[in-house]
Amino acid sequence: MIKILLTGINGHMGAAVRKAVSNTENAKVAVGVDLNTAECDGIPVYSSFAEVTEKPDVIIDFSHPSVLDSLLEYAKENSVPCVICTTGLSKEQISKIEFYSKEIPVFFSANMSIGVNLIIDLVCRAAKILENNFDIEIIEKHHNQKLDAPSGTALAIADAISEAVSYNPEYTYDRHSVRKKRDAHEIGIHAVRGGTIVGEHSVIFAGTDEVIEVKHQATSKEVFAVGAVRAAIYLANQKPGLYAMSDLIANS
Ligand SMILES: NC(=O)c1ccc[n+]([C@@H]2O[C@H](COP(=O)([O-])OP(=O)(O)OC[C@H]3O[C@@H](n4cnc5c(N)ncnc54)[C@H](O)[C@@H]3O)[C@@H](O)[C@H]2O)c1
Repeated sequence: MIKILLTGINGHMGAAVRKAVSNTENAKVAVGVDLNTAECDGIPVYSSFAEVTEKPDVIIDFSHPSVLDSLLEYAKENSVPCVICTTGLSKEQISKIEFYSKEIPVFFSANMSIGVNLIIDLVCRAAKILENNFDIEIIEKHHNQKLDAPSGTALAIADAISEAVSYNPEYTYDRHSVRKKRDAHEIGIHAVRGGTIVGEHSVIFAGTDEVIEVKHQATSKEVFAVGAVRAAIYLANQKPGLYAMSDLIANS
């Protein structure tokens, strides 16, 4: 039985992870860390890692960027692998994750859905073929409670395309402050916020007289929770290193 420490246990994704774990035979949420320490299905919840006395096998984190430092320190001190799903992390925080992954197994993905990771693969192939004749724009849509914009997934898609094409694209965020024609070697990134949209990402390749659009739509938060639980079970037996959804897909 794999014992999970769930950071953000009382949040929306925390609830989705608890549900996904309850449908998994060989795992259980043993302890939670959350600023909101309300009782949760009989699972002990602490406001910080310093208070945790249980010994988890793996951490799943769906919380807030401010949690990262104490999470990595706790994980290293106690040799606990961690699946980091929180988005809106700074470049410095991502470098920190890479640094800690030399000592502990860390799984880090801005999007835990297998479908999104598949479209990243597809759009990279399309970008290579279309790179000289098509303009690339990314549009993401999320619910009105989301804090960060653009989404970590939109940036991950843009970064993957940047690595796939032969030029070095510049990112243009929205266009209200830019009064000039678009450059052929840029990627436009646009965020829409509203209602309860779970998550939508479209990559548009606009050429002369033709447009190709590759789109992924998540209709429930469960897809991210199920992906995170699969990642946690996979990571619990790995050596130190940095792991991503591509590793999980390759080994499933
Ligand atoms: N990687 C993915 O696939 C994916 C998918 C969905 C959401 N997310 C990300 O997961 C995070 C959480 O999303 P959510 O919708 O559950 O948010 P939420 O606001 O519903 O829940 C966040 C929880 O974290 C807790 N929290 C905040 N700051 C804390 C702190 N300093 N210490 C301890 N607990 C703290 C809050 O009390 C809350 O219970 C966000 O960053 C979101 O973008 C990632």
